[in-house]
Amino acid sequence: MSSSSNIVWHESHVTKEARQKLNQHKSAVLWFTGLSGSGKSTLSVAVEKELFEKGLRTYRLDGDNVRHGLNNNLGFSAEDRTENIRRIGEVSKLMVDAGLVTLTAFISPYQADRQQVREILAPDEFIEVYVKCSLETCEKRDPKGLYAKARAGEIKGFTGIDDPYEEPENPELTVDTTSAGLEESVKQILQYLEKSGYIP
Ligand code: PPS
Repeated sequence: MSSSSNIVWHESHVTKEARQKLNQHKSAVLWFTGLSGSGKSTLSVAVEKELFEKGLRTYRLDGDNVRHGLNNNLGFSAEDRTENIRRIGEVSKLMVDAGLVTLTAFISPYQADRQQVREILAPDEFIEVYVKCSLETCEKRDPKGLYAKARAGEIKGFTGIDDPYEEPENPELTVDTTSAGLEESVKQILQYLEKSGYIP
């Protein structure tokens, strides 16, 4: 029996739909996934800025505000990565319920974990953005010097080196940051959001 079996859901008078109406836009999660150094954080920051300036209510979740706080008891084993993504998925769901366009930037290397997040949301509330970038390019960029450490054996289980990254099979969007610049990728994402009715 799960620990939640004696808990009763309490309905709120202020619904997600009412919040969305007040905000005058849909709420959803833009889920950026990709290797370390692929550009997830940079892109999510840039896209959030554009959306915020257009008057949308947004919030961004990434390593800084999650792995240092809510998930500061988790490391990088397969189990911990799964739990990391599960919690972020649940927090995202709350944010979508609060009417926000939520942008998440986590490696989220496992297909099954991303799928689980997709399934706790409505079909139009989960937008998977694959930030595609070759390992070679990510390693060349190495903004935090972590690839060098992983190659030297100082970090074990580093994604792309000695830990897996499972590419999205059917993402809503793929931005290729090996070939496209930041501006172009941001434009591609904004065009998708406009076309799909997320930006009124
Ligand atoms: S995950 O796999 O989704 O749970 O990872 P995430 O929460 O996004 O954290 C990734 C950032 O943590 C740093 N880091 C590592 N990444 C991958 N593998 C290992 N072993 C590791 N150890 C530390 C790394 O800086 C990642 O940052 P980003 O922003 O992705 O470059």
